[in-house]
Amino acid sequence: MSESVNLLDPDLFPHGSGPPHELFSAWREDDPIHWNPPNPEYPPPRDSLPTRGFYVLTRYKDVADVSRNQRVFSSHTGGPVIWDLSAEGLQRQQAGLMGMPMDAHRAVRRLIVPPFTRSELMAFQPQIDAVAKEIIDEVAGAGECEFVFDVASKLPVYTFCSLTGVSPEKRETVARLGNLNADVENVDNYAGNEEMDLAAQLFQISTQIVAEKQAAPDKSLMSRLVHGEVEGEKLNPLQLNMFFLTMAIAGHETTRGTAGHFIRLMNEYPDQYELVCSDPDRYLPNAIEEVLRYAPPVTNFRRTVAEDVTLHGKELHEGDKVYLSYPAANRDPEMFPDPDRFDITRENAARHLAFGIGPHACIGARLARMQLFALLKEIVTRIPDIRPGEIGRLRSIWFDAVMRMPVTFTPER
Ligand code: HEM
Repeated sequence: MSESVNLLDPDLFPHGSGPPHELFSAWREDDPIHWNPPNPEYPPPRDSLPTRGFYVLTRYKDVADVSRNQRVFSSHTGGPVIWDLSAEGLQRQQAGLMGMPMDAHRAVRRLIVPPFTRSELMAFQPQIDAVAKEIIDEVAGAGECEFVFDVASKLPVYTFCSLTGVSPEKRETVARLGNLNADVENVDNYAGNEEMDLAAQLFQISTQIVAEKQAAPDKSLMSRLVHGEVEGEKLNPLQLNMFFLTMAIAGHETTRGTAGHFIRLMNEYPDQYELVCSDPDRYLPNAIEEVLRYAPPVTNFRRTVAEDVTLHGKELHEGDKVYLSYPAANRDPEMFPDPDRFDITRENAARHLAFGIGPHACIGARLARMQLFALLKEIVTRIPDIRPGEIGRLRSIWFDAVMRMPVTFTPER
């Protein structure tokens, strides 16, 4: 099977039952720098070209080492996504935080880190808790709902909008466009229609927000970026728009997906769920880490080799592409003994790579953990017998996301 398998095939990965873990285990053991050929059948998404082959890393240590080494394995030269990009697509990616040149990236991170520090987030916590409670208030009496959009999506959207400075009336539009952008492989979203340039639609919104923040500065992230300087210069409009687009996808899709995986996995492993419910304050934080380890919502990012290097005896040349597999790294037995066992008491679960590691590690990790704890605690204490119906997963080679999940539970009185 291994020979014919191609990670560019959306029907293989991670559609249906999730990432191909058996295959990853085989590669991790015998072929730690596996060559994935191009897939001529695979239709590239908008702004992309037919995608060249790439090397796949499946060992924890390799994924971590490469992520930390931007000088040799760059997020900038080819952008952070596995697809090969058109000139315009690459220009956009390189203007964004994930694809910036190293020095500019460091400077922008310094500008935007303050709202994500522990003390600032602690001040934000009461708002997050209040919204989590409201979300469950709205569904708790009904005994059923559609979990993904009625529950899981709302808190990350609210939080992202509040942080970036989006007004409440625009929240739904931003959430919808963020979702469609993440569903990047769904050609029906584009169909060659210029009106469906989803990024351009998000850019329109962000341009308005930039104008608002220019006129009236506040403490929001967009205001910090609009008024801040990087290497003595203001950020240009494309950089500001790309930051907004990244946040609209990264700050939403991922957290929502993890909440969905939590409900799915707790239903599959009722003994683990019983333990969580027995003492949520004690068990829920590590249960969230184990869900992130076991089912990371982002399945890969890309690096491009910036100078020739040898890895596991294979010579990699400048321009070669490297695929970092987070699901595979998170099941490496060298790091996580008995890795296919879902165990919410696993001592080192939080060492997973679901948030990446190194200079581009997720800036929202602490915030995501806070949101997930707030929302899931409301669920396990108020509607603990929540049961999923038929689950629909996104058809994607990039995100492993639950897109549809009807749930039922005993209504709260
Ligand atoms: C469960 C939730 C989340 C997961 C699994 C996740 C995953 C990731 C991963 C794997 C990266 C690393 C990219 C790389 O190394 O190339 C990343 C970066 C990033 N994430 Fe998250 N993320 C989550 C939540 C969030 C939230 C809530 C926000 C913001 C509100 C956010 C904003 C970002 C940004 C801006 C970056 C780019 C950082 C950089 O390039 O310096 N993420 N995320």
